[in-house]
Amino acid sequence: MSTSPFQPSPAPWFLLGAGNMGTLAAWYLRNADQAVTVLRRQGPARLDKTLCFADGRPAQALTLPVIAPAALRAPIRRLIVACKTPYTDDALAGLPLAGDLTVLRLQNGLGSLEGRLPRAATLIEVVTTTAVKGQHPRHEIVAENHSWMGGPATPPAWFATLARHWPGLAWSDAIRDRQWHKLIANAVINPLTALHDVANGRLLEDPALHAEAAALAAEADTLLRRLDPHWPGDSLPQVMAVVRATAGNTSSMRADAQRGAVTEIDAINGWLLRQAATLGLALPSHERIVAAVRARHPIGKQ
Ligand SMILES: NC(=O)c1ccc[n+]([C@@H]2O[C@H](COP(=O)([O-])OP(=O)(O)OC[C@H]3O[C@@H](n4cnc5c(N)ncnc54)[C@H](OP(=O)(O)O)[C@@H]3O)[C@@H](O)[C@H]2O)c1
Repeated sequence: MSTSPFQPSPAPWFLLGAGNMGTLAAWYLRNADQAVTVLRRQGPARLDKTLCFADGRPAQALTLPVIAPAALRAPIRRLIVACKTPYTDDALAGLPLAGDLTVLRLQNGLGSLEGRLPRAATLIEVVTTTAVKGQHPRHEIVAENHSWMGGPATPPAWFATLARHWPGLAWSDAIRDRQWHKLIANAVINPLTALHDVANGRLLEDPALHAEAAALAAEADTLLRRLDPHWPGDSLPQVMAVVRATAGNTSSMRADAQRGAVTEIDAINGWLLRQAATLGLALPSHERIVAAVRARHPIGKQ
């Protein structure tokens, strides 16, 4: 780290969830000269990772130190949350969090940190269309697309340096809209492809699945317009553009369902249902698909 002796070192980042996204974020942060330590209750003192980028460069090695929460000597001031959403509560349990905590949330879905952070914490939401697959210790960066950070009115001081090392990263003053667009795409594509065990492109080809997709998108638009009358609605064409661009892909929920892992449905369609309930609004297509995904993959029940 090249820190001047006259400046205090910035607080290190602690990473919850050193999986595909967490490892890539750690890679960019380390390249931007920021320290990243993995938080894990058990396991080795370091994680040796291999990152395989799609641009043909040789596989890149990354070693991340690991610390158990019980061994921390001071409250955490900078935290990256990149575990799958159903594990968030468990991962945060008992962590000593400083009052001036800054959090980078790198998760699909919404609401996983609601009510779980100190009141004065700064939450930076990350929306990304980058795709990473694989399993520890090998992570394959399928596509480095666009990522946006936002939440606070202005970007933090370290953002400009990080953006030089994180391809496609930009600050967004409208991060909520980006989250909502991504949420609708996830809420349509993920459960349908998981339930029917099909690649994303099937939503374009199969008239019955296309009709279900249209109903899910329309109900989500109705809700979001109730939450914000300025919401443009008419999300189906954007969702179908994502389907077209990722036609051959397996959605993350389908992949989770195939390996019997817990799905993120509660943070995606479940978030829409919780918002709708507060407004007394019914979203029957979302109710049906959440029930169907949970019935098919009962391990995903929470
Ligand atoms: N991968 C992508 O391309 C992509 C793109 C956009 C958004 N996202 C979002 O990013 C988030 C992470 O996805 P991912 O693909 O990186 O998942 P992943 O590869 O499965 O990684 C999740 C990590 O969380 C860890 N974890 C599980 N339980 C934990 C606990 N109790 N405490 C601490 N860590 C725990 C797992 O650790 P173990 O290995 O020890 O089980 C794993 O390393 C998800 O919300 C996903 O929707 C992913």
